[in-house]
Amino acid sequence: MLGLIGVGAIAAAIVSGLSETAEPPSIVLSPRNAAVAARLAGAYANVRVAASNQAVVEQADVLLLCVRPADAQQVMSALRFREQQSLVSVMAGIPLARLRELATPIQQIARAIPLPSVAAGRGITPLYPANAHARDLFERLGHVIEVDNETAFDLFSAATATMAAHFLYLDRISTWLAAQGIAPGAA
Ligand SMILES: NC(=O)c1ccc[n+]([C@@H]2O[C@H](COP(=O)([O-])OP(=O)(O)OC[C@H]3O[C@@H](n4cnc5c(N)ncnc54)[C@H](OP(=O)(O)O)[C@@H]3O)[C@@H](O)[C@H]2O)c1
Repeated sequence: MLGLIGVGAIAAAIVSGLSETAEPPSIVLSPRNAAVAARLAGAYANVRVAASNQAVVEQADVLLLCVRPADAQQVMSALRFREQQSLVSVMAGIPLARLRELATPIQQIARAIPLPSVAAGRGITPLYPANAHARDLFERLGHVIEVDNETAFDLFSAATATMAAHFLYLDRISTWLAAQGIAPGAA
């Protein structure tokens, strides 16, 4: 069972991508942001919503942490984890050493940088340190880049911060083409 804590933009992209695969995993979502969680549970038979964050932790073997970095301490310090669980954090800027403190006694912890293209199964997701659970999760959503060290991982993270500007630039070009009479799909 895959459990997600934090059901915002990137979590919704991950859940959609996983649920559209041929063999979707069973997924349990944290209840906050009820509208998004309800939409996902309504759209996909493999997805349901738990009563609390702790209920997600109790049901999941693999936990995906998708809250904003500023919420990490408050969210994680309220939870009781099990040593045998596997945790994958997508939170930018929270280092592995800090995750180990916050997720005690979990031993297997990985960081990942998924991007919204995972919703279409076309992600390219850096992982550090890679493990079988994290690799399996993100290989279902496209490609995985196994990064050697955390400094390099943080460089990937910084690079992804340029994505929004890049797509905005492409959108402006496309909008300009459409304004000149090119069909929007072709533009
Ligand atoms: N968006 C991306 O493309 C992207 C890519 C890579 C990594 N990330 C990382 O992913 C994380 C989430 O980003 P996002 O863009 O998905 O942000 P987001 O849309 O704001 O999602 C965060 C979610 O966490 C929820 N939340 C806050 N406190 C909570 C709590 N105590 N218990 C359970 N849920 C709680 C928020 O609910 P409320 O709205 O009610 O506060 C919100 O639904 C960030 O750490 C970011 O660094 C994002």
